[in-house]
Amino acid sequence: MLSFLVILCSLLTACRSSVCPCERPELCQQIREEKDFEVFIFDVGGKTWKSYNWSMVTTVAAFGKYDAELMCYAHSKGARVVLKGDVPLSYIVDQDNRTAWITDKVMLAKSQFMDGINIDIEQAVEEGSPEYYALTSLVKETTEMFHREIPGSQVSFDVAWSPKCIDKRCYDYVTIAESCDLLFVMSYDEQSQITGDCVAMANAPLRQTLDAYDQYLNLKISPKKIVMGVPWYGYDYPCLNFSQEGVCSIEKVPFRGVPCSDAAGKQKPYKWLMKQVNSSMSGRLWDDEQQAPYFNYKDQDGQIHQVWYDDPQSICPKADSVMSKGLRGIGMWNANILDYSDDPVARQQTTMMWNALLRC
Ligand SMILES: *[C@@H]1O[C@H](CO)[C@@H](O)[C@H](O)[C@H]1NC(C)=O
Ligand SMILES: *[C@@H]1O[C@H](CO)[C@@H](O)[C@H](O)[C@H]1NC(C)=O
Ligand SMILES: *[C@@H]1O[C@H](CO)[C@@H](O)[C@H](O)[C@H]1NC(C)=O
Ligand SMILES: *[C@@H]1O[C@H](CO)[C@@H](O)[C@H](O)[C@H]1NC(C)=O
Repeated sequence: MLSFLVILCSLLTACRSSVCPCERPELCQQIREEKDFEVFIFDVGGKTWKSYNWSMVTTVAAFGKYDAELMCYAHSKGARVVLKGDVPLSYIVDQDNRTAWITDKVMLAKSQFMDGINIDIEQAVEEGSPEYYALTSLVKETTEMFHREIPGSQVSFDVAWSPKCIDKRCYDYVTIAESCDLLFVMSYDEQSQITGDCVAMANAPLRQTLDAYDQYLNLKISPKKIVMGVPWYGYDYPCLNFSQEGVCSIEKVPFRGVPCSDAAGKQKPYKWLMKQVNSSMSGRLWDDEQQAPYFNYKDQDGQIHQVWYDDPQSICPKADSVMSKGLRGIGMWNANILDYSDDPVARQQTTMMWNALLRC
């Protein structure tokens, strides 16, 4: 009875708000075409999307406030716009609650003329627990209902950089991959559980990143279901101690059972990084082992910081391996954080970051 009411209410909301906001009504039609290659981007709100390279973009996961203008524009470029899906797993162990959640999302997507959903559950789950099975069912049932109700819609699921219970996310990756259209692999925050020396390191070291794709592929997940996610942000770590060799020891901040993590640092957008590197004490440095750029700077209190990030040089070999492994595509977290101002240097850097997704 409760879920019946929820469905009814969702239907009513959907009916009320489904007047096409676009200039041309056909722009409200959902995208049905399957692209061989995905450039899957996350947008977190605001109007920077006006400066994206729309000749590349195939899917926008809209994580900001709903923007009808973005939906109309994306559709005019043949790109999908998908909802964000997140829910405490304890709520959707119950089948009725799960169905109600899915129904609600489908109705919301329809009323906003959207093309699917990106499920971003980053919660810890124990293998074999009720939440473990509920999550798998959630993905399967969401995909079924979206495909049925919005023909051609896309259901994707965000996974950690490796399937090996990273951050205690022990999901049924194989069944989840089978049950949706694609997995977005978040190949970043790879220092969320530092087991060795508690020191600053790269957000997404090359070898570790690529090995983890082999782990996914070794599970017999099809490469055509895998989209590589690269970071357009880095980590700024205050150093407790800065050694002669340039090693930056960081504060011990535990995360999901491990004593040291990247939570000792602050995430910084590429836009900030490119300004900060010029006023740094080291300038841009390159770590051969991790194949990543970094720099050191001194803050106003005289404390040394070490900053690790990705730039075209570190992203290129990753993008190359998307091609060589035959993956479905590439994307980033997130599209907003480049410098889209008119400054000629910024323009050049921004163009190079977009282009690095496809070729070097
Ligand atoms: C956008 O991407 C396309 C495809 O890679 C490229 O040819 C074009 O030069 C890019 N546009 C800009 C403005 O950088
Ligand atoms: C159903 O979901 C609601 C939140 O939407 C939650 O408060 C409630 O505990 C859930 N019920 C069950 C039985 O899990
Ligand atoms: C800093 O490192 C040096 C050796 O590199 C060590 O002797 C010293 O105890 C360290 N200081 C702190 C505060 O960790
Ligand atoms: C940073 O320095 C480089 C090299 O000196 C220069 O080309 C560039 O314009 C500077 N970038 C910014 C954002 O000031």
